Amino acid sequence: MADVPVGPEIIVLPDAASFVAAAAERVSRRCADAIEERGECAIALTGGDTPRPIYARLAREPYRSRLPWDRVRVFWGDERCVPPEDPRSNFRMAQDTLLQHVPIPPSRVHRMPAERADLVAAALDYAEELSAHLPPGDGGVPRFDLVLLGMGEDGHIASLFPGAPALRETRRTVVAYYVPQVTMNRMTLTVPVLTHAAEVCVLVSGAQKADAVWWALEGPPEPERVPAQLLRRSGGRVVWLVDAAAASRLSDRPPSGAAPPEGREAGG
Ligand code: 6PG
Repeated sequence: MADVPVGPEIIVLPDAASFVAAAAERVSRRCADAIEERGECAIALTGGDTPRPIYARLAREPYRSRLPWDRVRVFWGDERCVPPEDPRSNFRMAQDTLLQHVPIPPSRVHRMPAERADLVAAALDYAEELSAHLPPGDGGVPRFDLVLLGMGEDGHIASLFPGAPALRETRRTVVAYYVPQVTMNRMTLTVPVLTHAAEVCVLVSGAQKADAVWWALEGPPEPERVPAQLLRRSGGRVVWLVDAAAASRLSDRPPSGAAPPEGREAGG
């Protein structure tokens, strides 16, 4: 009998402190499991504000000593098209909160070259870097052991925003494009990479995300308007780590607004 797709695992934490602790523990355990399974772990980091305290927690004991950082490869799920030293850079945020505090060899930190003028070539180069360092999954799609994602109030994940042509990309693993919702160019992994990952962990906190969480997990299918719904087709494990405020609309009560939460993104 064909495997029945398993739905996401939803873990609700009572408050911000337990959310951060649970997320750090989950990341550490997943990386340790991957290292035990295949000798190393390839993880894609998310940007935004939500992961900051989680990365800072991973930079401290016991996680700093618990993980063999020389067996971890770090990539990004998306990047703002700014120089790496720019305060908006997801690379800089991860450097400041985590990577400069742990003994990970620089050769195992794979930054998205999103500051380059030729973004088509830069996306192709990063796609090649994925293929060079990740095992091929189904159809040859590079397979991450863990992809961390945040989610915007409009339901975007990585830099896959509502209405973007990138949502329908099935061949390329990395694309770059102008995102009107944030009035800037972004580079992002595409849906095939996210849905072929061994595990995707979506990290969402705050009451302002409650409508988007309901739409992503319990709303009627509108993936063009709520890109996080695209994770419903994942072949790997999908875990939602949400705090109680962000989960407050779940248990199939429609959120306050009738339409999907599009156009609410203030930035992110
Ligand atoms: C980015 C992220 C983006 C982020 C969401 C949520 O580059 O900003 O990759 O997808 O995860 O916008 O952002 P917050 O965590 O700041 O709410």
